[in-house]
Amino acid sequence: MQQLYQNNREIRAAKPADSGQWRSLPGPRSQEYLKRQEARESNARSYPRRITLAIKEAKGIFIKDVDGHTYFDCLSGAGTLALGHNHPVVLEAMQQTLDGSYPLHTLDLTTPIKDQFVEQLFASLPPKFAKVAKIQFCGPTGADAVEAALKLVKTATGRRSILSFSGGYHGMTNGSLSLTGSLAPKQEISGLMPDVHFLPYPYNYRCPFGLGGDDSQKVSAKYIEHLLDDPESGIVKPAGMILEAVQGEGGVIPAPDHWLREMARITSERGIPLILDEIQAGIGRTGKLYAFEHAGITPDVVLLSKAIGGSLPLSVVLYNKNLDLWKPGAHAGTFRGNQLAMAAGAATLKFIIENNLAHQAQVLGDRLLSHLREIQKDHPCLGDVRGRGLMLGAEIINPRMGITAHPELAKQIQAECLQRGLILELGGRFGTVVRFLPPLIITAEQIDAVSEIFAESVAAAEQKLA
Ligand SMILES: Cc1ncc(COP(=O)(O)O)c(C=O)c1O
Repeated sequence: MQQLYQNNREIRAAKPADSGQWRSLPGPRSQEYLKRQEARESNARSYPRRITLAIKEAKGIFIKDVDGHTYFDCLSGAGTLALGHNHPVVLEAMQQTLDGSYPLHTLDLTTPIKDQFVEQLFASLPPKFAKVAKIQFCGPTGADAVEAALKLVKTATGRRSILSFSGGYHGMTNGSLSLTGSLAPKQEISGLMPDVHFLPYPYNYRCPFGLGGDDSQKVSAKYIEHLLDDPESGIVKPAGMILEAVQGEGGVIPAPDHWLREMARITSERGIPLILDEIQAGIGRTGKLYAFEHAGITPDVVLLSKAIGGSLPLSVVLYNKNLDLWKPGAHAGTFRGNQLAMAAGAATLKFIIENNLAHQAQVLGDRLLSHLREIQKDHPCLGDVRGRGLMLGAEIINPRMGITAHPELAKQIQAECLQRGLILELGGRFGTVVRFLPPLIITAEQIDAVSEIFAESVAAAEQKLA
């Protein structure tokens, strides 16, 4: 496997030939595709509004559009493509599955491929959790794992309310959207799941308590503990607490380790299942295989999707068997048996472990973070630069107005990056956090090239909006 990876020159190229060169986008061929897409696809489509291209080919960290422009893909299918596009070990695993007369669709019936996937996954879990864990295969999206987890903890506890956090993102289905902080997609929707209570997440840069630093996490933990014990809090004892160890869509906000340990203590002392949504941060991205491992906690429930399918759709809920009180068929779904995704996912996980890519994500993430901090010195519009491993973000502000969010500048930076061959996405409040989610196979040279393009793009965007 290592051999395959090292021999693949295309994947290891430092940068494409046209890297950093400015192009007017969308190119003429992309324009035709985009026009047809606009005419036929839903108004709810999102990425094509900002990433204005049609993709023709993809390999490693690079994608090529139909006009022949090459881009660094630092969006990676919203964190799905841990090994980048079309990694040889992923393709090989899929090819073997296709060549072997294996079934491709099996509902939740078992197969040797599924068995091996479960073995590989359990071997990757912290041993304390693996020893007590059970797995539920879900419909193939992250949101369905969230829905399943809600049923699991509600059934096991006999309770109905759920604690979630401001800035959290858990999906777009009814239950998962109810747990999501972002107001925009909720505004028009009536009848969302009741009994969801939002708590303040420790977001130092814009501390909800006006404190910041260690004080912020201490007050947050104290507040939550008090709330759970206060007979006048208005919140009946919850069936669970759900959170991301690093909020992704909410603006790349890592929870301090101590605060996470406090959440684990507070919930465990009160018999409230703690659900770690690792759908985006899991599988090596933050510098550990699972983001909750930084804090050394053992959750009751862990949600996985995105990278676990090795670029194909797959999602699972892992949970403490004490919670396994739901009845046969309590959560179902036709597409729980995607064998290609299980083969690709097992191969991805194996490759990440064997090549210590979680550690590499830490090292390369630190390199990117230090480049971003250098850029910040010349460009105070990068108000805060933060994250963990290869899950990083730069919050864009108008420095002439304190730390006022500057959504227009963030958008312009994203557009300038795209025009120079770098795909980045925006997230966070008012879309002002420029997010870096490169595949874990990014090299040091590629980190340097990406940072260079980013620095040029920030300067160009500032100039345009001056
Ligand atoms: C943390 C987290 N949870 C849940 C989801 C929902 O996953 P999906 O879009 O596959 O439904 C996402 C998607 O971005 C996510 O980042």
